[in-house]
Amino acid sequence: MFISSSFIALISLALTVAANPIVVRDSPISLPLVRRVNSTGTISLVERDQARVRHLKARANALAAGKFEEDAVTSVPATNQLVDYAVSVSVGSPATTYSLLVDTGSSNTWLGADKAYKTTSTSVKTSNKVSVEYGSGSFSGTEYTDTVALGSLTITAQSIGVASKSSGFDGIDGILGIGPVDLTTGTLSPATSQSIPTVTDNLFSKGTIPSDLVSVYFQPTTSESSTNGELTFGGTDSSKFTGSISYTPITSTSPASFYWGINESIKYGSTNILSSTAGIVDTGTTLVLIASDAFSKYKSATGAVADNATGLLRLTTAQYANLQNLVFTTNGVSYTLTPNAQIWPRSLNSAIGGSSSSVYLIVASIGTPSGEGLDFINGLTFLERFYSVFDTANKRVGFATTSFTTATSN
Ligand SMILES: *[C@@H]1O[C@H](CO)[C@@H](O)[C@H](O)[C@H]1NC(C)=O
Ligand SMILES: *[C@@H]1O[C@H](CO)[C@@H](O)[C@H](O)[C@H]1NC(C)=O
Ligand SMILES: *[C@@H]1O[C@H](CO)[C@@H](O)[C@H](O)[C@H]1NC(C)=O
Repeated sequence: MFISSSFIALISLALTVAANPIVVRDSPISLPLVRRVNSTGTISLVERDQARVRHLKARANALAAGKFEEDAVTSVPATNQLVDYAVSVSVGSPATTYSLLVDTGSSNTWLGADKAYKTTSTSVKTSNKVSVEYGSGSFSGTEYTDTVALGSLTITAQSIGVASKSSGFDGIDGILGIGPVDLTTGTLSPATSQSIPTVTDNLFSKGTIPSDLVSVYFQPTTSESSTNGELTFGGTDSSKFTGSISYTPITSTSPASFYWGINESIKYGSTNILSSTAGIVDTGTTLVLIASDAFSKYKSATGAVADNATGLLRLTTAQYANLQNLVFTTNGVSYTLTPNAQIWPRSLNSAIGGSSSSVYLIVASIGTPSGEGLDFINGLTFLERFYSVFDTANKRVGFATTSFTTATSN
C-alpha cells in the first residue's frame, strides 16, 4: 500500500472546490472472489476462449477504425462461462447484492442477467440504451446511474447497465468491467463518443482509493466452487504475493493496446515458442492461448495429442513426467509455469468432459497465426500462479509470484 503526501495535497485542493464532501481513504480495499466451475455447458473451454479472442480483436479493430460497432464476427452459441470468478456488489439504497463476473477484458458494469435489478430512491434511469457483445454471450438494456458499493467503498451515481435481455449469463447477475475505459465507447445509443467511467475510475476520481489501479489474486483450485481469490481496489495486498511486483508497460501494438496488453515472449524449456510479440492479460479467458504457429511448436515439443472430448491437448503420464517449464518473459522478467501449472486440475477433468485418469494441458491455440497484434492471452490459468496488477495511472501491468506459483496443486 502506498499513498504519497502530494496525493493527499491534491485531494485537499480538490476538497476545497468540490460541492460535496469527499471522504479520502488511506488504504486500498480488498474483496473476496468466488471461483465457480460450471460443467453443464455444451461447448468446450477452447471454443469459448477462441470465440472470446475473435470478439476482442474485432472490437479493438473497430475502435481503432473509429467505428462504434464491430463487424460481425463468428460467435459461438451463447454459453455460460465454464470457469469464472465473481465478486459481490451492492447496488441501491437499501442495497441489493448482485454477483458479478470480474472482467479485465471489458469495461461496462451491468446487472440484471439472473437476479432482476431492484430500483430504489438512488436509481436514476437515463435516456440511453446500452448493449455489449462478449463473443459467447451478450446483453442489452438501459443505462442507469445508481449507488454502487464494493465492500466498504461506495460510489454514488455510478453508470451501470441494466439488462432487459442477456444470453450466456445463467447463474450470474452481470459483469464488473475493469478493463480500460475506452472499451465502453460506442456501447450506448444514441451513439456518443464519450466513454463511461468504470468503477475504478470513479473510485479514484472521487478520492475514495489512493491509486488508480486494481490488483487481482487468484489461487489454483481443485474444487468446483470456492472463495479463494481477492480483488483489491487502489493498491496491492502484500499478504497475497511473494517478492516484489515487476511491471511491464502497456504495449503500443494494436489491437492488444486496447486491453491490458503487453509484449511478451514464450519459451518451452530451451525451445522458442513465441518471439516477443503483443498479447493481453485477461481474467475473462480461462486458458493460456497462443498463436496457432506457437501452439504447433508447443504441441510437438511436449508430444501432446489433441483430445477430442475436451478440445485440449492430452499427455500420457510418461510425457507429463518429462514436461519442461513454460517461461513467459516480459520487460526482462521471466514468469515460469511449472509442469504442474501447465495442466488442468485433474480433479476437475470430468467437469470439462475429460477422463479422470488423463492429463490435459491448459495451453491452447488462439486459432490464428502470430503477427496479428494479439498473439497470446495470459488467462486465468496463468493468473492463478501470478498476482497481477492492472495500473491505469501508470499504463502498466504488474506480476508477482505467490505462494502457489510452483505449488503442485493440479
Ligand atoms: C451452468 O450452465 C447451465 C447451462 O448453460 C445453466 O443452465 C446453469 O444455470 C449454470 N449454473 C450456474 C451455477 O451457473
Ligand atoms: C512492443 O513491441 C513493439 C513491436 O516490436 C514495439 O514497437 C514496442 O516498442 C514494444 N514496447 C511497447 C511498450 O509497446
Ligand atoms: C473425434 O472426432 C472425430 C472427427 O470429428 C469424430 O468422428 C470422432 O467420433 C471423435 N471421437 C470421439 C471419441 O469423440
